[in-house]
Amino acid sequence: MNATHDHQQSAQQLDHRYEARLKVTGTAKYAAEFQNDVAHGYIVQSTIPAGTITSIDQAAAAKASGVLAIITPFNAPKLGELGNVNVLQNTTVLYNGQPIAVVVARSLLEAQQAAKLLRIEYKQQPAKIDFNALADEARPPKRGGSSRRGDPEASLAKATTVIEQTYSTPIQNHNPMEPHATIATWDGDKLHVFDATQGITGVKQALARAFSIPQDNVHVQCPYTGGGFGCKGYVWSNTILAAMAAKVAQRPVKLVLGREQMFGPVGSRPNTLQHIKLAASADGKLLLQQHDSTCYVSFISEWIESAANPTTLLYDSESLIVSHRVVDLNLGMGTWQRAPGEATGSVGFEIALDELAEKLNIDPIQLRLINYAEKDPRQGHPWSSKHLRECYTQAAERFGWSKRTPQPGQHREGNKLIGYGMATANYGASRSPSSAVVRFLPNGRVFAGIGTQDLGTGTYTILAQAAANALSMDPNLVDVQLGDSALPRSGGSGGSTTAASVCPAVHDAAIQAKLKLAQLAVADAASPLHGSNPEDLDTRSGQLFLKSSPDRSENITTLIARNGNNPVEGTATSELPKDRDTFSSHSWGAIFAEVAVDADTRMVKVRRLVGTYDIGTLINQKTGTNQLIGGVVWGISMALHEEAVIDPIHGRTVNESFAEYHVPVNADVPEIDITCLNIPDYKFNPLGSRGIGEIGITGTAAAIGNAIYNATGKRVRNFPITLDKLM
Ligand code: MOS
Repeated sequence: MNATHDHQQSAQQLDHRYEARLKVTGTAKYAAEFQNDVAHGYIVQSTIPAGTITSIDQAAAAKASGVLAIITPFNAPKLGELGNVNVLQNTTVLYNGQPIAVVVARSLLEAQQAAKLLRIEYKQQPAKIDFNALADEARPPKRGGSSRRGDPEASLAKATTVIEQTYSTPIQNHNPMEPHATIATWDGDKLHVFDATQGITGVKQALARAFSIPQDNVHVQCPYTGGGFGCKGYVWSNTILAAMAAKVAQRPVKLVLGREQMFGPVGSRPNTLQHIKLAASADGKLLLQQHDSTCYVSFISEWIESAANPTTLLYDSESLIVSHRVVDLNLGMGTWQRAPGEATGSVGFEIALDELAEKLNIDPIQLRLINYAEKDPRQGHPWSSKHLRECYTQAAERFGWSKRTPQPGQHREGNKLIGYGMATANYGASRSPSSAVVRFLPNGRVFAGIGTQDLGTGTYTILAQAAANALSMDPNLVDVQLGDSALPRSGGSGGSTTAASVCPAVHDAAIQAKLKLAQLAVADAASPLHGSNPEDLDTRSGQLFLKSSPDRSENITTLIARNGNNPVEGTATSELPKDRDTFSSHSWGAIFAEVAVDADTRMVKVRRLVGTYDIGTLINQKTGTNQLIGGVVWGISMALHEEAVIDPIHGRTVNESFAEYHVPVNADVPEIDITCLNIPDYKFNPLGSRGIGEIGITGTAAAIGNAIYNATGKRVRNFPITLDKLM
């Protein structure tokens, strides 16, 4: 049954990360590490949640040591077209922590010291902060957010078993290891930035619009990103303010956010309040699925955490109601945070299914199989590939699900209560068009360049493989360049789209380069391949050869040397499949958790996590599995640790440091057993690979929550599950 063996593995895999050596030796440079001879910008944040700034007295600050410029809404340059960012264009304050000034000084310390000397006066207005107190004011979003199928009333009337519950997840804030960071340098009306980003093209476009200059005047570089899970997919105020500061101070400016500045100005995962109603027949068939989710939205922009959306496609049911509502608050903007929608939605929905399974006295896996969606329930399209059944089977077997005691609180080891739980994981698959260049170099190596970026996930590694596979060569001989907006354009690294977008582009560019090389050989009287048809030639381990007679071949470097010793280049743009509107593509998985809960203290220890994923072709075992493990670890965080606490009066996040904003540390992370089915999805993408970045977090927190219930008999529906809730 193991599907892995029925399919060819992708040809060549690097067994180490392409840039591993550079990273462990500290040679890989991140955005803030490039220029030392720079001034330093420091963002000053509002201390009120709502109102207007009436004055900023900068006399004392301007005289402070090392100060070069102070930019406030009263003197800031007027910018052109902007996204939803606060960049000193007006005096309105919409949340506590909003950027309201930038101090530029010779050193960061001097900038921070001078910032303290600014005397800022506000006219405060009543603020909306407390979500729970204002939940009654929830309104429908301006756009979309709801769908309905079948006849919900009739389906409900037929049901024998109904569960109806409310689940909640808290606000979370992005905290990649590297905070947002920019170095901006102007040369006339040309702008260069090093920027920590998930999308160099997006940064280039946003800066060109903000400063009303042509896109070609902006050069963005980001060779390495120290993690980005959605926050670096948007161009926030810090990047634009760095460029503004460099313009005003007339010198290069470095602007790096402090850890505490990650809580507000660069977005958050909004909270969710999820009302779920499931109605089923006695045999477990879902008749009605209803999922209504409410989240906060900022007054800056209506960004919705679409927690109920995944419910439209996960399981079959006769009828369905899905809706979203929003509560306007004086908080920073919501944004994409790893598996936006799926991560939060699976917490509510996969626990609701567990509750239904118990009430029906049906095994939780069995309940999911009974309602398995053979086609996309939204429009009836076939899946390009779906092997979720195998995920359940493989993960259940590796986990030992058969040893589970369905009755909660029955499995004890000393004073530890042991519980098992599971959930389905899912995330959509999409890709964007990308262009790439590949060159055969005179020194025998191959260059692959593409305007994408590596968040630390393995993009360099899989691109070296993509070029090597197209050319049948050793991936260690491929030099990959990315993170530079001068390279052929590619999309942002978000929504788990990168691998599926960039690998085909590099593959196709390599094929084009090979064709150019073949054309060179057939036209060269000195080549043993002279006079052949270029289409009949192929490459292998540094040789160009005739496919019908492989012994007729020539060394590629010899051919290039004889023909001017110049690189031989191919370029390509990978387009999306023309029939892409006729099928649905989605990634799937099954995640199982074992927890031990201390019977006295109620301390929860996650003991084991076992996940099996159907993500199409696993392009690289090490980097791919690593991404899934990272997502699963974040799932532990969602389940047990992570929560931004907002002061209900002042509207500031009170735990804006790693001391108080808890994330799992190594001691919290158990053995994680990750396997991938590795069944290619060639309909979606010529490499057969779907996204892998986000799916790991989905389902994990629910599996842990379900395991805690199985251990203790206590159902916690508001996350994170801290031990006080288990008392
Ligand atoms: Mo992901 S939330 O699109 O970086």
